[in-house]
Amino acid sequence: MSWTFDNGTILTKAALVGEYENNAFAVACAQTGKAVIIDAAAEPERVLELADGMDVQAVLTTHGHFDHLRAVAPVVESLGVPFLLHPDDHEMAAQYTPVSPIPLLDDEVISLGDTSLLTIHTPGHTPGSVCFLSPGVLFSGDTLFPGGPGATHFDYGDFDMIIKSIEERLLVLGDETDVYPGHGPTATSIAEARRDIPEWIERGW
Ligand SMILES: [Fe+2]
Repeated sequence: MSWTFDNGTILTKAALVGEYENNAFAVACAQTGKAVIIDAAAEPERVLELADGMDVQAVLTTHGHFDHLRAVAPVVESLGVPFLLHPDDHEMAAQYTPVSPIPLLDDEVISLGDTSLLTIHTPGHTPGSVCFLSPGVLFSGDTLFPGGPGATHFDYGDFDMIIKSIEERLLVLGDETDVYPGHGPTATSIAEARRDIPEWIERGW
């Protein structure tokens, strides 16, 4: 496990899985245990272990790249829950998982007992990339990392679009919002992104 975060409202557990150090998260309402998994990326037994004791409602996926999807089939089968993904990445995901996703739309609210997650569509890394906002924490997938935006040199990536997504959809959040990215053990914050984005635009990646 790489980190656990509990602010009394929401309990988050994270694990780095697979060779690309993807973050898989289990996010639960601290009162009711209602939970989701974000990015069942790899190593299904470790993803399931994260959610042990939680009442998991769904597997949410930040985008359709293969490294974020490799444990979806065994995890949804084991838990009997749906797999949610933004429709703009459904075609991409179909190459990597046999599980049919349920469309997850911009501004969709995922209720978890006494709390909720808000889905924010942030195209750029892929057309269907999304972030999830819980109280105090943004799960940013591959849209925002410590030190810059996610890569846009893959097929369907678009640098101008990822910058627009960050500026228009993420920098409107409070500076104190912690940001947990889709890869690696290090968190960042909206304050850091606000401070550094002029440099990222200047360098062009
Ligand atoms: Fe990705």
